[in-house]
Amino acid sequence: MNATTTESDLRVTPEAPVPPSPDSVLEHGRYFTSLPREYYLDEERFKSEVDRVWCEQWVYAGHVSQIPRPGDYFILNMQDESLIITRSSATEINAFHNVCRHRGLRLCQESKGHFGPRIVCPYHTWSYGRDGTLHKATRMTDGEFFDYADWGLAKAHVSVWQGFIFVSMAEKAPAPVSSMIDAKTNADMEMIEPLRMKVAVEKIYEADANWKLLLENGVECYHCPSVHPEFCVSLDASAMADYYAEDYLPNLVQGLIIPVKGELESLSMDGRYLSKKLLGKFGEGTPIPYAFGTGFMTQPGYAWGGFHPDYGMVASTLPVSAGRSIMICQWFVHEDAVEGVDYDVEEMIKIWDITNHQDLAIQERQQLGVSGRRYVPGPNSPSQEPGIHSALRKYLEMMGEPY
Ligand code: FES
Ligand code: FE
Repeated sequence: MNATTTESDLRVTPEAPVPPSPDSVLEHGRYFTSLPREYYLDEERFKSEVDRVWCEQWVYAGHVSQIPRPGDYFILNMQDESLIITRSSATEINAFHNVCRHRGLRLCQESKGHFGPRIVCPYHTWSYGRDGTLHKATRMTDGEFFDYADWGLAKAHVSVWQGFIFVSMAEKAPAPVSSMIDAKTNADMEMIEPLRMKVAVEKIYEADANWKLLLENGVECYHCPSVHPEFCVSLDASAMADYYAEDYLPNLVQGLIIPVKGELESLSMDGRYLSKKLLGKFGEGTPIPYAFGTGFMTQPGYAWGGFHPDYGMVASTLPVSAGRSIMICQWFVHEDAVEGVDYDVEEMIKIWDITNHQDLAIQERQQLGVSGRRYVPGPNSPSQEPGIHSALRKYLEMMGEPY
């Protein structure tokens, strides 16, 4: 403090924040950072993100085993949008906007169910076929005032890869998910036969944190040793970090690896199997590749799936507001696995449940820190956090901002 500095000067003279480069909010000469604080706080930006990112990309919706029979459906709610994911026929899966074409009633309120031959709106009983076409507008004859053919349920795009259902509300569909997945992931996935899996249990987590903090955390394993001691018993954290450094792509959907350590069997508290009924042909003697763990992710809106020889888990984050997100987790087992015989739900979810709680607690603390007026993003590690760089560049690209 020099002779003329007063205490009040100290209170009103903050350190100058690190200025962003004129080219991008991420690039700062020799290092890159995450986004400025207002990107995680501003509700106007959040609304624009829902339009430009979440409604444009492929969003993970669920798995074909959730709708085995024609007429089965489940609902995907995302922010103020709601989609009915339904099996219209043995070979056709649709995603309808959950909105009656007459005066806009939300058609389905239950989170899942089964349609008879018609989807009937309870307000004025307009009825639609399972394929979404308007079958009957009560007391208004087809062609009299309007043509039924013009008033079917509005559809979102659907892409099914290996039994996993992805939806996009974009005007023009992104490239199919299958076209974005590498050959190794396809081959590894085929080994576990995802079409012969079922959802054993689903759990919803909530977090007072911006969805991009969940994304950034999910695409680096820099934090794994310090935040996830239990997870690191069986996860090969350094091979996971190497994946993000070497094989990570800026695709909307991509395959990935989730390697377990050495000779361990699965990703679990002790590295042992969590389901006795192994996936795919592994239970019939097909050799299990060393450190086997395969999966996929979506970005920038983040979903992450990891599969081992006995079970798998998909975590799908969804945006609620600038400061709030949810994460829906599904655990998968072989379709013939019997609860209480082959697996115990509490035991099976333990490793990921602990890990998820650890991650979300960190993101809530991070949201609090980022909210502080003096926060400016610090340098990220090029070897440990390159996934953040790629994911946020993709985000900026979709937002139409320089990256
Ligand atoms: Fe659905 Fe009128 S709002 S029939
Ligand atoms: Fe984590």
